[in-house]
Amino acid sequence: DAAQQETLFQTRIDAEEKIEPKDWMPEKYRQNLIRQISQHAHSEVIGMQPEGNWITRAPTLHRKCVLLAKVQDEGGHGLYLYSAAETLGITREELIEGLHSGKAKYASIFNYPSLTWADMGAIGWLVDGAAIVNQVSLQRTSYGPYSRGMVRICKEESFHQRQGYHIMMTLARGSAEQKAMAQDALDRFWWPSLMMFGPHDAESAHSAQSMKWKIKRQSNDELRQKFVDQSVKQAEVIGLTIPDPDLKWNEERGHYDFGEIDWEEFTRVINGDGMCNRQRLAHHIRAHEEGQWVRDAITAHEAKQRERAAS
Ligand code: 3HC
Repeated sequence: DAAQQETLFQTRIDAEEKIEPKDWMPEKYRQNLIRQISQHAHSEVIGMQPEGNWITRAPTLHRKCVLLAKVQDEGGHGLYLYSAAETLGITREELIEGLHSGKAKYASIFNYPSLTWADMGAIGWLVDGAAIVNQVSLQRTSYGPYSRGMVRICKEESFHQRQGYHIMMTLARGSAEQKAMAQDALDRFWWPSLMMFGPHDAESAHSAQSMKWKIKRQSNDELRQKFVDQSVKQAEVIGLTIPDPDLKWNEERGHYDFGEIDWEEFTRVINGDGMCNRQRLAHHIRAHEEGQWVRDAITAHEAKQRERAAS
């Protein structure tokens, strides 16, 4: 009966077994994963917009090619993750409808504008840096397709972070104006990057259950702390200042203490009222509608191929 199945399921989770699409799983486990994986996919795809803004404005051909490759990677990450979500019994159309209707979330960071070239540095360094901290941990998630998608994505992410940090390093070592541009980007992206890890554990709606089912392997605050500790040193090396007056090394804890996140801003942005939410969704809806003919052509082509195969 269901209670026995739940117990058996938890025994498998505790034994570090991977749950595969055809295995029995609690309905809530399935729904939690569809929620998280689809929002992860939406984040990758929406994240293409702020960076896409700067492909035609990159300062050199080399920077343009690197940025183009990174944006293409993000699109690919989105497709892996949509495919992982579909193994849980939801269609691509339903996933996209969830995004367009505002029912599904995506990472709040992408609702901030990318105002200068230095933002490409800050996004690569900090946003991909935060994503890597989260995704390295997620490689050990209990759902097989998600875990394997993470392993593949993590291989590509380190280049994303490296190229962003190199942009920041180059600007910070450039003219006074270039260094000021890099500092301005750090000032605008630092706190929204910390928000990528979600609310404090005590306020996290899903963490307890997600940890029990090993969907989440480390808590929001633990991963956020890891990200802060690594980023402070990286900022120091390139002579930029983290915009947090409360940031201080705590010898006892062996970590940096840091200031409080603006949770009012966090809540506003994740509920659709950030600077670019409407623009990001309008862009995605327009691109999706304009792409309908491609989907129709593929469907028609596949039907013809099936006819030929059958005749
Ligand atoms: N932006 C938007 N929504 C957020 C958020 C953020 N930064 N942080 C939390 N939330 C939402 C959660 O989705 C949840 O809302 P929901 O119930 O409607 O889904 C609510 O706030 C409460 O947060 P919880 O901590 O209870 O939710 P989770 O247990 O799901 O933890 C999470 C949040 C850590 C973001 C987790 O969902 C996660 O690890 N997701 C996968 C990683 C991910 O999506 N990263 C974004 C990647 S962006 C990227 O990689 C592109 C880059 O390469 C450029």
